Amino acid sequence: MCGIVGIIGHEFKVTDLIDGLKKLEYRGYDSAGLAAVNGQELFLSKSVGRVDTLRSVVEENKVIKGGIAHTRWATHGAPSDRNAHPHTDCTGKIAVVHNGIIENYQELKTELIQKGHKFKSETDTEVITHLIEENYKGDLYKAVLDTLKHLKGAFAIAVIHSDHPNVMVGARKGSPLVVGCNNELCVLASDVTPIIKYTRDVVFLEDGDVVFIEGNKMKITDFSGNTVIRKHTNITWDESAAEKGGFKHFMLKEIDEIPESIESALVGRFDDDYNPVMHELDEFNIEKIKRILLVACGTSYHAGLVFKYFAEKYLNVDVLIDVASEFRYRPIRIDDETLTIAISQSGETADTLESIRAVKKAGGKVVAISNVVGSTITRESDVTLYMNAGPEIGVAASKTYVNQLILLYTLALYMIKKRNLWTEEHKKIAKQIVSSANLIKKIISNKEIERVSDHYKNYQHFMYIGRGVNTATALEGALKLKEISYINAVGYPAGELKHGPIALLDPTFPVFAIAPKDSLYEKMRSNIEETRARNARILTIATEGDTEIQKISHDVLYVPEVHEDLYPLVIAPVIQLFAYYIADKRGYDPDKPRNLAKSVTVE
Ligand code: F6R
Repeated sequence: MCGIVGIIGHEFKVTDLIDGLKKLEYRGYDSAGLAAVNGQELFLSKSVGRVDTLRSVVEENKVIKGGIAHTRWATHGAPSDRNAHPHTDCTGKIAVVHNGIIENYQELKTELIQKGHKFKSETDTEVITHLIEENYKGDLYKAVLDTLKHLKGAFAIAVIHSDHPNVMVGARKGSPLVVGCNNELCVLASDVTPIIKYTRDVVFLEDGDVVFIEGNKMKITDFSGNTVIRKHTNITWDESAAEKGGFKHFMLKEIDEIPESIESALVGRFDDDYNPVMHELDEFNIEKIKRILLVACGTSYHAGLVFKYFAEKYLNVDVLIDVASEFRYRPIRIDDETLTIAISQSGETADTLESIRAVKKAGGKVVAISNVVGSTITRESDVTLYMNAGPEIGVAASKTYVNQLILLYTLALYMIKKRNLWTEEHKKIAKQIVSSANLIKKIISNKEIERVSDHYKNYQHFMYIGRGVNTATALEGALKLKEISYINAVGYPAGELKHGPIALLDPTFPVFAIAPKDSLYEKMRSNIEETRARNARILTIATEGDTEIQKISHDVLYVPEVHEDLYPLVIAPVIQLFAYYIADKRGYDPDKPRNLAKSVTVE
């Protein structure tokens, strides 16, 4: 996730471009840059760090006719001036900004180098610039169309050429892009925030759209050049609501971003036949691994727990998991047949970092799963699988938890394949993972979640129960609720109820039962009956079509049927939204829960 903005059509100050970029900083902030046309010259400015650093290096009053700018969240290539966007071609006339990932960039790069192109960065984006140069015969729009045919992956791009100071071309496939024009100019951006200063009449481009902008006029076509008509939207949000995409809180916005975030995590992860791809692990002797150690904290620990259940079911290995604050003080046994996986969204959690150091000291290898390129954990691990969720501002993890699950399922499938254990069932799981973004789009639009949350907002206690892989879902549901709504929520494997927790239940203590149609469904039903017998109010998450469950629950939230191991993935947004609505209805700010920090860099 990166932020892009472009303005064209009229004279304006270079700082206007930077003001626009500043509004997109939530999408990434490890480096920033701009390219602008001044007369027939293209000039570039880039800097590592936040947008304000870029501001400090540009000439404040410089007037330009058009330009594009970018704030980066690194995926390919570390944060550096060289890797910061925009990227230019060999002639220095074409500049491109890009949000997304070009899956086939390596093969394109090899071909372009053979044709004599010289690359200046390690990014996937630079291939787009050189391809446009290759296809350019005097018409920028046509050159972009010819280039798009070769790109695989997800992208939103904006392109300018110094020979056409009045022209900008944008295209979208999988990453957002919005455009708006007034009487003088047009603005193209990753969201509406940089645009509403100029106009509130915008068009949200759709996947497969190309926008050709000349002066203050735009034309939208498909990738083949056929004109398409898109509806205009009048934005009524004020500035602060616009920063949150019109949502009341970042957490709600970030839950809404889950489908986009999943798509980014999946780029390049499965081939056309649904075989998992993890080149990062090619150097590991996956076939030989007999023991996996998982280490993480909080929500990341729960993602690890899902992996444990899933991997142990299909791989002939022991999977041990521990919270990092315990792991780091325990004696650890590492050998050549042990693989350690450290999960940390921020890549900075002190306990997880110390656990990695302990494993490394004992001679072990560590695979990190993180969202932050260049973070300490990624630097100290042998290899990192990046979540590519983009920055998460809400303190409670939401889209990053989902992306952790996506990567962990894929990692387990990769190991299954490598160990020759692959069956049609695994292919079915892979297919469902690949199409999960669409499924989740539908799940997060379910208005029932907010309506049902109203029945539970005044309770002081809550018990989440689940079985098997959804034990993790129960623990995560309870953590999410307690950390943002301050309700005393506890999570248990449902079979543990009778060993103590059931003593808590009475009409003041509701139960949230995770009971999808899986192989433990009947057991879960019995547990729900047990809690009913204590007069607890029961909210159940069930599989669509299971009307029977309504007879033993006070409320039911449904999710679509998926492979039984994938329910944690589709239920995750439901437990997040439920916790969000309760916190909001209780008058708390879900983005900034008391006593908590986004990065826990202390022990
Ligand atoms: C809960 C939450 C925390 C983090 C934990 C680990 O919503 O966000 O429990 O999961 O602090 O953080 P990372 O993943 O950054 O190591």
